[in-house]
Amino acid sequence: MATEQTAFHQTDMLTPFDLDSPTAYQRWREHKLARAITDTGELIVEVKDPLALTSSEHTALLDRCRRSNMVIYSTRSTPTDEDMVKRLGSQFGLKSMDANWLAGKQGITRITVCADDGQRQSYIPYTDRAIKWHTDGYYNPPERQVRGMILHCVQSAGQGGENRLMDHEIAFLMLRDANSDFIRALSAPDAMTIPERTDEFGVARAAQTGPVFSTDPKSGDLHMRYTARTRSIEWKQDAATQAAVVALENLLASDLPHIHRTRLEPGMGLLCNNVLHDRAEFSDTPNQTRLFYRARYHERVAGTHCNW
Ligand SMILES: [Fe+2]
Repeated sequence: MATEQTAFHQTDMLTPFDLDSPTAYQRWREHKLARAITDTGELIVEVKDPLALTSSEHTALLDRCRRSNMVIYSTRSTPTDEDMVKRLGSQFGLKSMDANWLAGKQGITRITVCADDGQRQSYIPYTDRAIKWHTDGYYNPPERQVRGMILHCVQSAGQGGENRLMDHEIAFLMLRDANSDFIRALSAPDAMTIPERTDEFGVARAAQTGPVFSTDPKSGDLHMRYTARTRSIEWKQDAATQAAVVALENLLASDLPHIHRTRLEPGMGLLCNNVLHDRAEFSDTPNQTRLFYRARYHERVAGTHCNW
């Protein structure tokens, strides 16, 4: 199996996410817990026109993103085409789109059930099945990490399709508080390997080995790569990694108030710094076919750099 050499550099600066900086961590932790959103209703911000946010709407959206790395916007009057998503993102500095091979012309992916599309139907997002906890683009190479994301609901399903959402910084915090060895193991450059993907032409995507938690070398912001799926992933086979993975699974299965449960309805969308999320299974009806637009970006939402 070909494994690409990773280039997940740890930053030289001391950040709260560095195990060698307990003082910075404690300061950041206190601030984070005091401000983190635990009431899902507080995550939701009504906006009149996502194409041209007012300054108070922009401030309200940014406030949620600063505190919890995510916000759910809700609008009644929206021309829901792909361009709207792009223009909303650009108001938050989201510009370099990570267009995957199934994305449309705009770089935005239409997530809907594709029962008769041979290419898509073998990928879970294009089915009505549940998707386990993950961050987006966990299989991307280091230079194409997905740091920002918009998930916009054009049409919800007849039934089901709820999402759970969790700020990855809170996941880090909870794991670090429980046992700093969990963080050490999940920050190892060989913690997690996503095997290569092949198609009829050969290797379509090389294997990716890297950490779950890493910090941006320039900004010091925390990034997380994760999938709870058990197929197409190889965890490092040592006791420390195995224990950390179980601890993370238990955390995500808990009823912590920082885990938000929500169902996006038409006109609602998630704007976030690629937080942890999952999707419940759903069923469409002839009149109600679930359709979401998804945009992935290499930047974080502008103005959400974490201070400590
Ligand atoms: Fe996702």
